[in-house]
Amino acid sequence: MRPGLIPATMKRILLSVPHMGGNELRYVQEAFETNWLSTVGPNLTAFEREFSARIGLPAVALASGTAAIHLGLRLLGVGPGDEVFCPTLTFVASVNPVRYLGGRPVLVDSDRETWNLDPQVLADALRERARCNRLPRAVVPVHLYGQPADMHPILEACARYEIPVLEDAAEALGSLYHGKPAGTLGQVGVFSFNGNKVITTTGGGMLVSPNREWVAKARFWSTQARDPGIAYEHSEMGYNYRMSNVLAGIGRGQLEVLDLRVEQRRAIAFRYREAFADLPGIELMPQAHYGLHTNWLSCFLIDEDKFGCTRDDMICALDAANIESRPVWKPMHLQPLYAAAERYGGEVAEDLFRRGICLPSSSSLTVEEQLYVVNQVRRLAGASGLTELCETLTPAR
Ligand SMILES: Cc1ncc(COP(=O)(O)O)c(C=O)c1O
Repeated sequence: MRPGLIPATMKRILLSVPHMGGNELRYVQEAFETNWLSTVGPNLTAFEREFSARIGLPAVALASGTAAIHLGLRLLGVGPGDEVFCPTLTFVASVNPVRYLGGRPVLVDSDRETWNLDPQVLADALRERARCNRLPRAVVPVHLYGQPADMHPILEACARYEIPVLEDAAEALGSLYHGKPAGTLGQVGVFSFNGNKVITTTGGGMLVSPNREWVAKARFWSTQARDPGIAYEHSEMGYNYRMSNVLAGIGRGQLEVLDLRVEQRRAIAFRYREAFADLPGIELMPQAHYGLHTNWLSCFLIDEDKFGCTRDDMICALDAANIESRPVWKPMHLQPLYAAAERYGGEVAEDLFRRGICLPSSSSLTVEEQLYVVNQVRRLAGASGLTELCETLTPAR
């Protein structure tokens, strides 16, 4: 069979699937053999220790990234009536926890060069808010699709008014900002191990902070906030948010292959970029100069006039060819849930949403599958198919 020709009977090419490294089962088996089958045990302790060593900050393993954002915002003191600035272009889980705490998200537009929270729009908004004494309780930059947000100007703008920052690095484990891991620059950082992420525990999250006491507090809240002593006494509100020792075993195995997975995801994005280089109207998400973008998902912008079809046409055509693709996140201000939220701009986010597409990005995607995706896209542009893809060597920096 010629490369790039995959029969219609092939399995569907999905957007982003789990990719085990090999040792996960061994750690899970150990949990079964030793009967550590709850939310305490050696895998949990080791996963937190190993993650912490990698990231350079104390860490607590939780049931999801969303749970981590919820606890993180509570650590920052967000409560009823408080406002929290979030980018409008993100997944809904960045914003929902503000509401869980009775707060109000205020939505901020994206920077076209990074697709992340626009530092200038943020700085202007904070200056205006300071004048009328309406500063937010916290700011939540998101490192979208593995691209680190431009943290220096964001942190500077927030520090000017002593506003704490929670970094939503759910999509950005492995990303670097000026050599530092995304998620470690603010007061609290949050990661996700959802099944579609660079590495997964099937479902799970991690909260990190330079403040060791905060991490201990989050751990306490995540296990129902049970006070010390033999009685079941509770003075504070808690949650059932702890990761299980079984899933932490998967996390340990996955962490061992994190760098390889990042390299594989980056290679896919750059192979696509190379394979579309001669096509008009299709452009890879920008790669900000200041860091390492993992390209967790390979996102492209389609200019329908130049390319010859719309983003939605492309999604439908790929679907018919048994390929899953998705639009870029729908901005929060276009969601019925957050349509009434106060906001600063939103036009850039709307444009990125309207034209943005995420192509299959699993680290386990074979070169044949990538070539098949490439040729389906090229066919839509009326271009001839390729017979091979370039070899992109992208060692993680
Ligand atoms: C930007 C962002 N924030 C938060 C989350 C929530 O993470 P989880 O699914 O682990 O709750 C996700 C992904 O799922 C995400 O993409």
